[in-house]
Amino acid sequence: MWTKPIMKPLIAASILSADFTALGEAIQQAEAGGADWIHIDVMDGHFVPNLSMGPRVVEACRRVSELPLDVHLMIEDPDRWIPAYADAGASGLTVHVEACPHLHRTIELITELDCRAGVAINPATPTSHLAEVLDQADLLLVMTVNPGYAGQSFISTTMRKVAALAAAREQSGWEYRIQVDGGISPSTAPTALHAGADVFVAASAIFQHPEGPKAGVRALRQALRPVPG
Ligand code: DX5
Ligand code: ZN
Repeated sequence: MWTKPIMKPLIAASILSADFTALGEAIQQAEAGGADWIHIDVMDGHFVPNLSMGPRVVEACRRVSELPLDVHLMIEDPDRWIPAYADAGASGLTVHVEACPHLHRTIELITELDCRAGVAINPATPTSHLAEVLDQADLLLVMTVNPGYAGQSFISTTMRKVAALAAAREQSGWEYRIQVDGGISPSTAPTALHAGADVFVAASAIFQHPEGPKAGVRALRQALRPVPG
């Protein structure tokens, strides 16, 4: 199915693939290329088999950029950590439905802290797990890889979930954004755009671009331009 995007496509630059010895500069390069958000992947070595960054990295990003900080919590028991990430300067906090037995309460907590509330689903999780929070969440993240690492291949079967969420949005009038994350590049982004996604997270395609992050963001933006006609 083919659903037209109703919101301006946004690019979220995921610092997971950035040069950590020059993180500030990498972020500023992405910003100069036109990135809309900075995406920060938090991994706990339990919910996903990798460890990444904590609130101090969010604080550091806040100091070098005024762009919204989109914090993706790939952690167990996120309620315990949400206030620390909000204090550190997160603009949006996204939790995984697979890690939230009390999802309604978790979304309320994020919203009370004045952050944009996002809910993510892994590739094997159906959209029905989001059904009761479609009117509560600000953003729904359809993972297009199994979370844990940058540089993995895009799983195209997840596009039917993007299309279903886009159709539900069109029918209901709710205004959640639909984000895709994992294996997003100039060659895969148009497929996700046509399915109905409007926030595109990319790490490798931006921060490992041979000509640098600025060129990486520009190439992605070019791929997301509407095709005339
Ligand atoms: C995956 C992370 C992604 C990751 C994307 O677990 O949530 O945000 O950084 O990396 P790429 O764009 O390289 O697939
Ligand atoms: Zn992510």
